[in-house]
Amino acid sequence: MTTTADIFLPIQSDLAAVEAKLRAAALENQHPALTSALDHLLASGGKRVRPATALLAARLFAADPAHAVALAAAIEMLHTATLVHDDLIDGSLLRRGLPTLNAQWTPGATVLTGDFLFARAAELAAETESVRVMGVFSRTLMIIVNGEINQMFIGRGQASRAGYLDRIYAKTASLFAVAAEAGAILGGAGEPTVAALRHFGREIGMAFQIVDDILDFTGDQARLGKPVGSDLRQGLFTLPVLCYLDHYPDDPHVAALLDGHAGESDRVAHVVAAVRASPAIDEALAEAAAYVARARVALAAAPANRYRRSLADLAEYFVSRSL
Ligand code: IPE
Ligand code: IPE
Ligand code: MG
Ligand code: MG
Repeated sequence: MTTTADIFLPIQSDLAAVEAKLRAAALENQHPALTSALDHLLASGGKRVRPATALLAARLFAADPAHAVALAAAIEMLHTATLVHDDLIDGSLLRRGLPTLNAQWTPGATVLTGDFLFARAAELAAETESVRVMGVFSRTLMIIVNGEINQMFIGRGQASRAGYLDRIYAKTASLFAVAAEAGAILGGAGEPTVAALRHFGREIGMAFQIVDDILDFTGDQARLGKPVGSDLRQGLFTLPVLCYLDHYPDDPHVAALLDGHAGESDRVAHVVAAVRASPAIDEALAEAAAYVARARVALAAAPANRYRRSLADLAEYFVSRSL
């Protein structure tokens, strides 16, 4: 299988520059606790698939390298900030195999660290020297936050495909969309090509999140670095359960979870096992693969070079990772 190391080969030195930029987020009088929190977050790994998407899209059109690196760092910083707040909101104690900030700190300190990262992300976006990129970047953050609020108020206990697809666009695909779109903007691509790249990013983002939702059923904590089964425990119905319901619409255990009995861990374990044993996993995977196929079609609008090949490989990787 192609690994991200292979796929990232054409942008290896750019990614190193992104890492350096991510680490350089210090104020002169910055509190040492903030510094250690940032070190903890940035050293903990992460697949860096979003900055890679931005860099590959920018390089595809020969964007200014400094601007491309600033964009990629801004995107990863924004992602990190949303994870800090998301783990606090979800009460998640493990991320990238390490304790989360909220597992160690008060909610107040965790919120403020996330805020600091959001501000730094905006500063990095400004380094692209593109007002248009700053605009789409800010709008994406609005979409992500609105999506989290939607999920909080209406997403739990809801078993609708339309609701699910809206949610995963907001929380995940919107960021991949802006990564690819902004890369094309920085590269001076024409408007139809910018739109095609945005479409590409959206489709791979949808696929990425569907696979993340599948892994919540089929993966293991050691490999994923975060707990599994957590969506159902939180009352969130993702694509594997929606596919399962197509086959067993009257399953009493799923109905009970929908009625708000998500806290019953025996029941959650029972439903996880039932979903795993059903055709639902393969069906959800097929839907993810269909998003990747559409992404490849969108990519045909871009010039054929090694960056485009890597973007196509990245899209394939999204449906083959850890399965
Ligand atoms: C985690 O994203 C949050 C989701 C949108 C699923 P990743 O799986 O990309 O997390 P890292 O950055 O590699 O840890
Ligand atoms: C994380 O969403 C996405 C954002 C931070 C916007 P989830 O709560 O579904 O992702 P994990 O499972 O914690 O990585
Ligand atoms: Mg969440
Ligand atoms: Mg979460």
